[in-house]
Amino acid sequence: MSAPRRVALVTGASGGIGADLARVFARHGYDIALVARSKERLEALADEIAATGRPRPLVLAYDLTAPDAVEAIAAELLSANASVGILVNNAGYGLLGDAADLDPAAQMGIVDLNVRALAALCLRFLPELRAGRGKILNVASIVGFFPGPGMAMYYASKAFVLSFGEALWHELRPYGCTVTTLCPGVTVTGFQERAGFTSDVGIMRFGGASAASVAESGYAGLMAGRRVVIPGFTNKLLCFLAPRLPKSALLPAVASMQKTKGARHT
Ligand SMILES: NC(=O)c1ccc[n+]([C@@H]2O[C@H](COP(=O)([O-])OP(=O)(O)OC[C@H]3O[C@@H](n4cnc5c(N)ncnc54)[C@H](OP(=O)(O)O)[C@@H]3O)[C@@H](O)[C@H]2O)c1
Repeated sequence: MSAPRRVALVTGASGGIGADLARVFARHGYDIALVARSKERLEALADEIAATGRPRPLVLAYDLTAPDAVEAIAAELLSANASVGILVNNAGYGLLGDAADLDPAAQMGIVDLNVRALAALCLRFLPELRAGRGKILNVASIVGFFPGPGMAMYYASKAFVLSFGEALWHELRPYGCTVTTLCPGVTVTGFQERAGFTSDVGIMRFGGASAASVAESGYAGLMAGRRVVIPGFTNKLLCFLAPRLPKSALLPAVASMQKTKGARHT
């Protein structure tokens, strides 16, 4: 059997930041495997990348919240004679609203995707990534630095991603395997619609970045082996200040900022 095809496995690649990350990796010569639920959108992106002369990405249409998804992905990679050289955990979503008002199952879905699936993919592929001096890019958010009344489960999920990623960075660095946590600020994607935002006042106020620019920053930080990447000066400042501000000031400020995102949060 020939040597395995070493791929960058990108989750949440059917749109937004993930699709642009896949494009950036492809442009830099990486072979890609694309994961998300929307098979048609993944196939379209695979066609787009193949049309540039790169190998056609593997399309792995899975719901990552399904309990057997990670093992099924590993089995499909094995049968395609592919191994993971770079793992990009990007799939994620949030929900706007107070925890007591939102559907509990939908909120637990945030834990299943943003936390459990991300952790399970890391743990499943860590041995081969460590042995092969691979790389992990976990997509958190600047909100990982804040408590998040009005989007409590989402903010907490990103605090997990940040903490887990920084610890892995330290554990794996001696092996030449790096773990980078990307913390974007507001980025204009399908995220806002899925989260239930009904106003773009917040985006205009905080100056939403493009998915393409966030993907470029993530790729550059990953290649430089950086522990945490926060695109944009204002976002860096917010992440610097958040842990230093008293919670008595921070909590009401975050809660009132959620109101700029629309009417669901009353
Ligand atoms: N947009 C922002 O302002 C912002 C800011 C900071 C951080 N982030 C983070 O950036 C990451 C990407 O989000 P985005 O802004 O690009 O949002 P997006 O456009 O909504 O993309 C989310 C991606 O995740 C996939 N996904 C959702 N549920 C899934 C599931 N159960 N199984 C597999 N894939 C699933 C979606 O594909 P399917 O629907 O086809 O499954 C899609 O490809 C997320 O982790 C998000 O938290 C976003």
